[in-house]
Amino acid sequence: MSRSRTAMLAALALVAGASGTALAVVPGDVGLAAAPCTVDYKVQNDWGSGFTANVTVTNNSAAKSAWSVKWSYAGNQRITNGWNAKVTQSGAAVTAANESYNGSLATGGSVSFGFQGTYSGSNAVPAAFTLDGVTCNVDGGPTDPGPTDPGPTDPGPTDPGTGRVDNPYAGAKVYVNPEWSAKAAAEPGGSRVSNQPTGVWLDRIAAINGVNGGMGLRAHLDEALRQKGSGELVVQLVVYNLPGRDCAALASNGELGPTEIDKYKTQYIDPIAAILADSKYRGLRIVTTVEIDSLPNLVTNVSGRPTATPNCDVMKANGNYQKGVGYALNKLGDVPNVYNYIDAGHHGWLGWDDNFGASADMFKSAATAEGATVADVHGFIVNTANYSALKENNFKITDTVNGTSVRQSKWVDWNRYTDELSYAQAMRDKLVSIGFDSRLGMLIDTSRNGWGGTQRPAGPGATTSVDTYVNGGRYDRRIHLGNWCNQAGAGLGERPKAAPEAGIDAYVWMKPPGESDGASKEIPNNEGKGFDRMCDPTYTGNARNGNSMSGSLPDAPLSGQWFSAQFQQLMQNAYPPLS
Ligand code: GLC
Repeated sequence: MSRSRTAMLAALALVAGASGTALAVVPGDVGLAAAPCTVDYKVQNDWGSGFTANVTVTNNSAAKSAWSVKWSYAGNQRITNGWNAKVTQSGAAVTAANESYNGSLATGGSVSFGFQGTYSGSNAVPAAFTLDGVTCNVDGGPTDPGPTDPGPTDPGPTDPGTGRVDNPYAGAKVYVNPEWSAKAAAEPGGSRVSNQPTGVWLDRIAAINGVNGGMGLRAHLDEALRQKGSGELVVQLVVYNLPGRDCAALASNGELGPTEIDKYKTQYIDPIAAILADSKYRGLRIVTTVEIDSLPNLVTNVSGRPTATPNCDVMKANGNYQKGVGYALNKLGDVPNVYNYIDAGHHGWLGWDDNFGASADMFKSAATAEGATVADVHGFIVNTANYSALKENNFKITDTVNGTSVRQSKWVDWNRYTDELSYAQAMRDKLVSIGFDSRLGMLIDTSRNGWGGTQRPAGPGATTSVDTYVNGGRYDRRIHLGNWCNQAGAGLGERPKAAPEAGIDAYVWMKPPGESDGASKEIPNNEGKGFDRMCDPTYTGNARNGNSMSGSLPDAPLSGQWFSAQFQQLMQNAYPPLS
């Protein structure tokens, strides 16, 4: 949940005043001569046979134009690749030397670099480090969680009833999924982002125990406890297995048929709730994002709408989406350290007047079904796995061109919103107005909505017409706002961040970048996944995307599977850019 920006800043100022700032990088040795350098060596991920680590070096001596840091391992760690330094190893001895772009290191300045390695046995932090031959004072170490920069540190008042904090992301690290991290790190250049937190998708019953020997829910939570150390940590789970899943599309149809609500309850939600309730996980802040792409379909893709889909009529008639969501909110909400966030679509879906209020009402009906109450809802998430831009700075919904509103442009097409931030904030207000908690917090999935790279407009479009103005200025380069599958030209968006704007608990990467949205061709599988032509780059569209080309990348694998070409494109077009 989120209080106003002003309140948050005021609270931060108090924290800073009282404790000498929680965000300082080095605590400092008050009263002692400063060490010539300090080194903070932190293992970021460790999956038993491999790891990634980050090293931050602070120089307290004369300024340098080049540097090298050395250490020796006591164990058999072997570094396989590094980033932001040239990392080489000979036997146990490691040397990390500056890259051409980060050789200058001021007095009091810091530089960070990272690497990936393999090991067996123990992965202890090295005991000693030197900077240009001079021994440093080690700042980190096995028991010292070291400096972290989790963003705003004030989680807000704790709810006396439940013990939940207002914003679980404030002052907390967020779980890095080692399985995603390893795939990202294995891509050329991927280690620039492989330490980012991403969602853990429980996308089938088998995911609870782990698919094909992969990590199950307990394995993730155990690893989360390790990453947590003595600080606070958020784990992000995606609860995604409703009966008749994804009724308006085919790419993410799931394993449960439209009527299998009992199986959903007893074989999916109950076992998840039982694991989350284990007291050993009580110290984690567990964020659950509940059932992506479901409830809004019952508003927008049913009979009476031009985009009606028979499967959505079935799900509306049997009520199993509302029942499933209500059941999940109720059961998971009984666990005091679970923070439920319901999926609230994105502006390119629900931003029209016909859809906006009716969807909010639909969320309320699900949040009060099957024993759930609005108190089981901590917030909502928008833009999950979608591509809508966070902020369109080059045009506003209130702009006019030669007397014509931008709402009349082909791109906006009467929508009320131009971007996800304005949509999320307005949806939050709407939800509060119909009875959700006034402290409601929003999450925005910024995993793939960066739209940087060479195609990013530098300023507003020409004012020849509303269309030249909007099309020339918009960051979102999709052919049509309704396109959603593996979009060509997309980039990584804002890095995950706590309390970035009023009403927003966090920017998150709930969709793991690099995982496909759907196959470009029919691919037989046993997951229930279908072939949706919106994932086929040769498809010419339907009513949902204004009969436009799909804009999807070719040669995509099944939804959820690793799609290297997409990951490379996302890094290439990242905004903010990757350094
Ligand atoms: C899609 C897939 C699902 C996967 C998720 C995250 O929704 O259907 O299996 O876990 O994306 O990539």
